[in-house]
Amino acid sequence: MAISIKTPEEIEKMRVAGRLASEVLDFITPHVKAGITTGELDKLCHDYMVDVQKTIPAPLNYAPGGHIPYPKSICTSVNHQVCHGVPGDKKLKNGDIVNLDITVIKDGFHGDTSRTFLIGETSLQAKRLTQITYECMWIGIQKVKAGTHLGNIGAAIQKYAEDNGYSVVREFCGHGIGREFHEDPQVLHYGKTGTGPVLEAGMTFTIEPMINAGKKDIRQLGDGWTIVTKDHSLSAQWEHTILVTETGYEVLTVSAGSPPPPAFINA
Ligand code: MF3
Ligand code: CO
Ligand code: CO
Repeated sequence: MAISIKTPEEIEKMRVAGRLASEVLDFITPHVKAGITTGELDKLCHDYMVDVQKTIPAPLNYAPGGHIPYPKSICTSVNHQVCHGVPGDKKLKNGDIVNLDITVIKDGFHGDTSRTFLIGETSLQAKRLTQITYECMWIGIQKVKAGTHLGNIGAAIQKYAEDNGYSVVREFCGHGIGREFHEDPQVLHYGKTGTGPVLEAGMTFTIEPMINAGKKDIRQLGDGWTIVTKDHSLSAQWEHTILVTETGYEVLTVSAGSPPPPAFINA
């Protein structure tokens, strides 16, 4: 399938969906504390999306080929969980890290964003992994511009992660997004400069590196969704939905509570 180019009207709808997804993270942030369960976080977000925003939680019953329908409205990936952690009875505790991944549908368009939260006093390693992963996402974002090869994004992310002693998960990647949750292209978080399709203004896709403190290998749990590191090392992730422009990029998943870009970004 070809990579869709969004019209100005579609881009405006993507901006709305992106802001709303980010606002779910703003809403839930004060609740992300030791003692709460991931299931309680899911319920709070679900009710906020459906009752307050009038958005549709895209993960709920999402069933891409080969998967059972996803049973919850958000993903909550704790510590060695890489992505697609299914909310449940697990209580967050002091020292944990947790990624909350939100995808909403508004007016037919998707906004997809995630942040990793530190619970109470965390280890230096947990803080460093979370920070480097955030920087990996932004190093990828910084490469986005019409005329650039898609592969430049992954190459830059892989270099930064590995230079810092971490590994990049291979099996999951960023993705085109719009009327569909997952569209072409696949946005790898590793690879080679000068490879892949050339970016054009009006493309929209996510950049969402999953970075492991240990080895890159992963496995899926018996619930059919939750992905963990094989070696049980910590894993962090951040995600934004991005619009390609002639001069660079526009981050669509922004809201009042979005963390500021790292100091090395001057956009
Ligand atoms: N939000 C995830 C992504 O960034 C996808 C989650 S699929 C789900 O692509 F079914 F697990 F919710
Ligand atoms: Co995504
Ligand atoms: Co996501």
